[in-house]
Amino acid sequence: MNDKPTPTILVTGANRGIGFEIARQLLKKGAHVIISGRDELKLAEALKQLERESSSAEMVVMDVGKFESVKAASQQLAERNIQLDVVINNAAILLREDVSLIGHDDEVLKTTININCYGPVRVIHAFLPLMKSPGRIINLSSEGGSMSEPVGGWSPAYCVSKTMLNSITRHIAFELSAKHISVNAISPGWVKTTMGGQSAPRSIEKGAEGPVWLATEAPQSMTGKFFRDKAELKW
Ligand SMILES: NC(=O)c1ccc[n+]([C@@H]2O[C@H](COP(=O)([O-])OP(=O)(O)OC[C@H]3O[C@@H](n4cnc5c(N)ncnc54)[C@H](OP(=O)(O)O)[C@@H]3O)[C@@H](O)[C@H]2O)c1
Repeated sequence: MNDKPTPTILVTGANRGIGFEIARQLLKKGAHVIISGRDELKLAEALKQLERESSSAEMVVMDVGKFESVKAASQQLAERNIQLDVVINNAAILLREDVSLIGHDDEVLKTTININCYGPVRVIHAFLPLMKSPGRIINLSSEGGSMSEPVGGWSPAYCVSKTMLNSITRHIAFELSAKHISVNAISPGWVKTTMGGQSAPRSIEKGAEGPVWLATEAPQSMTGKFFRDKAELKW
């Protein structure tokens, strides 16, 4: 990004895991990064860690599960005169109780969809007025949401939420094409994080590389597509 202007990039759920590593790699590439998360103390600790490597990071508290919190975060960035080149919807949950769609009431599915699907929609809605054109939106998805792969039999509410997020990606890509804002979904692969668990084969560094590529280098003509690393995946 040497000869290009410094992009400003918002990453949700960036206090730990893949979101934190995406922020770290983007800062290393020279971007200005706003990390967000729902817990102010955890977020401040993450910012402190990032500031050891770069002074170009700042934070905004935002719970993507709550409309008022997302709206307040967007107002705060507007007051700081921030304009965004890229929004990365990384925050998501996978609940321990998520073992069957029909074995319990609808709370697990509702909670999961609220964070993993309505969350990105709320974020895009609230931050769109702050976005530049051209711009980029990246949604962290999962092959667990793929309709072209066999059902894996794990965390069904989470998988359903990622199928829905993939569809949301396609529709918002269509809606924002006139504004020259590309919208993509990407799977980081199975990554060793709190969510992915210790048996996962991929490092956090590797999992973050694809989203960083989409945020900085990928051709924007690929809007509306699903990726892992730099390769397009079937939905
Ligand atoms: N790890 C994998 O193998 C894997 C595979 C496929 C896709 N993905 C996707 O990659 C993304 C990152 O996953 P990860 O493995 O890094 O997960 P993780 O380690 O569980 O981290 C999730 C992050 O999201 C935040 N978050 C959760 N709910 C939130 C809310 N309501 N508002 C704001 N932030 C919230 C968490 O904050 P707190 O600290 O406050 O909880 C945390 O920072 C997710 O979209 C996930 O679905 C991961």
